[in-house]
Amino acid sequence: MRVRLASSDEAAVLAAIHAQCFTEEVWDAAAIADLMATPGTFALMDEDAGGFILVRAAGGESEILTLGVTPAARRRGIAGSLVCRAAEVAAAAGAALMFLEVNATNNAAIALYKGLGFAEVGRRKAYYVAPHGMREDALVLKVAFPLVRV
Ligand SMILES: CC(C)(COP(=O)(O)OP(=O)(O)OC[C@H]1O[C@@H](n2cnc3c(N)ncnc32)[C@H](O)[C@@H]1OP(=O)(O)O)[C@@H](O)C(=O)NCCC(=O)NCCS
Repeated sequence: MRVRLASSDEAAVLAAIHAQCFTEEVWDAAAIADLMATPGTFALMDEDAGGFILVRAAGGESEILTLGVTPAARRRGIAGSLVCRAAEVAAAAGAALMFLEVNATNNAAIALYKGLGFAEVGRRKAYYVAPHGMREDALVLKVAFPLVRV
């Protein structure tokens, strides 16, 4: 599968993917286009629009702002390819590391990131509001470049 840079003209496509991945948190096309217009921010998608990643690279660091793969396209390596390619793009922009926040209950995403060498460096208590109204912790994960699949 091929992964490529997405343009802000494709924000509606990215928003449609996002809506299939996150039920509590809706990012519409305008919100995604605004983020993509922020300096240092870029989006990558797979050529079949099964998934996308939004990353900001600034000040020698990079952050995954969001990552999602539609349910029908999961477990085919799309997310892994998106994160690896995003790390290359961020490194080319001067970043030496990448970090992200992930819900501490999101076992699929945590397995993905740990398999790419990310390690837990912090925990934000009660960071997310779950559908049932309970608060859930966020883990802060970080990796130094280059990524090495473990
Ligand atoms: C997490 C998510 C991005 C993974 O996307 P994906 O394209 O299916 O992931 P990949 O196929 O690249 O998986 C790579 C590895 O991650 C791990 N993984 C992925 N999904 C998993 C699951 N449901 N359960 C356990 N491990 C999982 C596995 O180690 C997998 O390798 P394997 O398939 O060889 O076992 C996707 O499930 C998703 O969009 N979820 C909803 C949104 C979300 O949670 N985004 C991340 C927010 S930080």
